[in-house]
Amino acid sequence: MKLDGPVIRSGPPGPKVAKVLEEAGLGPEDYGSPLVERAEGIYIKDPDGNVFIDLISSRCIANTGHSHPRVVEAIQKQLSKGFHWQTTDMYTLADRLGEMTGQKPCQVYWSQAGSMVNEFAIKAAKRITGRPNIISFTGSYHGSSMGAISISGYNPTMTRHYGPTLPGVFHAPYASCYRCPFKHDVETCGMACLDYIEDVMFKTYVAPDEVAAVFVEPIQGDAGWYIPPDRWHQGLRRLCNDHGIMLVVDEVQTAFGRTGKWTAMEHWGVQGDIVLLGKSMASGIPMSAAVLPRDILESTDPEPIPIHAQSFSGTPLGVAAAHATMDVIRDERLCENAERTGGYMKKRLVELMEPHGCIGDVRGLGLLLGVEIVKDREKKTPDPEMAARICSEAFKRGLFVLNMGSYGGKALRIAPPLIITEEQVDKSIEILDESMRGAQGL
Ligand SMILES: Cc1ncc(COP(=O)(O)O)c(C=O)c1O
Repeated sequence: MKLDGPVIRSGPPGPKVAKVLEEAGLGPEDYGSPLVERAEGIYIKDPDGNVFIDLISSRCIANTGHSHPRVVEAIQKQLSKGFHWQTTDMYTLADRLGEMTGQKPCQVYWSQAGSMVNEFAIKAAKRITGRPNIISFTGSYHGSSMGAISISGYNPTMTRHYGPTLPGVFHAPYASCYRCPFKHDVETCGMACLDYIEDVMFKTYVAPDEVAAVFVEPIQGDAGWYIPPDRWHQGLRRLCNDHGIMLVVDEVQTAFGRTGKWTAMEHWGVQGDIVLLGKSMASGIPMSAAVLPRDILESTDPEPIPIHAQSFSGTPLGVAAAHATMDVIRDERLCENAERTGGYMKKRLVELMEPHGCIGDVRGLGLLLGVEIVKDREKKTPDPEMAARICSEAFKRGLFVLNMGSYGGKALRIAPPLIITEEQVDKSIEILDESMRGAQGL
């Protein structure tokens, strides 16, 4: 029978989950993300029969919905043929990824996590350019391995106790216009944050000819869904071109239709030199890829690019799942649905601003949306405690949503599977509305 929801039978947690938590030394308050008994479409059913709407696609992974039959079939077929080592399908997948990211002919470095392709790109950019330094952005999230935390910058807890991190990493201010670090207005700022790289960084503490790469997220995800204004990415591309710096575009969260296009940079028509993919790429089978043009690679002859070999590179299950994922996104026109239904969802979220003063801002593209929770709309004081309470109230009502972002997690991450319908959006908004009332004691 097809899963439908949301349904809350007991708890959450109900008795089965409560027992498991207790045995693991945890309490009911630790149950804020559903344990999967069965997952299908936009729903996750837990062992007690509670069915949750997965409003975050399990961290932007289930873009095609959980357990899409075509993805399941592809995995099962591959499983019966052999599931370790590499297949010819890896080469056809590389071709498709090259096409998708605008890099043909391309070379793909395979891995299992977004963090690992960021590690690869740090090495590759240094090797290709022969330069030692990296620029990344405040607010960025590139993963949790040592190189990735070094270039990330969204929360000091990422690096506390682990420093010193990678040397030669310099953080520039991102276009987080809702809380502009320069206190400018987006209409009149003239891209002060980009000028800062040229006028301050390059002139005072990092020589541009010693910068190998700029790492950028097209839309900053975990910091709280910041979308740079028009022409910002183009300006960054130009700046990189002017100084022979590689532009590494981290599309780990934004690609595969999430923002209404196959890759988010298509919104700005900007081509990265290395494009990083992961998360939703194989609908839940761990799989990631760094895609770069073949001629860049060849430029490092006779010494090849750094070895980034990993035991499970190009795993057949991931390759089969990725092909099927791309087929589903194409055939079911999920980019179009993300754009259309995302627009509808954004409108419904904006409507919630009227009754709920705790919403400071609603922003995003396609089905990558963020709801900023504040103590005071004028002052924009972050309210991570309220954001956490809203998520907890939503969970009790069968809606799985997480608060994320800098300042202790003050934004709600709204990123449902791209198959979500308007009716399901309406249901989610109804629960969010109730949860906000509950959280504010209204
Ligand atoms: C933009 C971006 N890059 C990299 C990563 C790290 O990916 P992973 O968790 O698969 O290592 C994430 C994870 O959230 C991400 O959002």
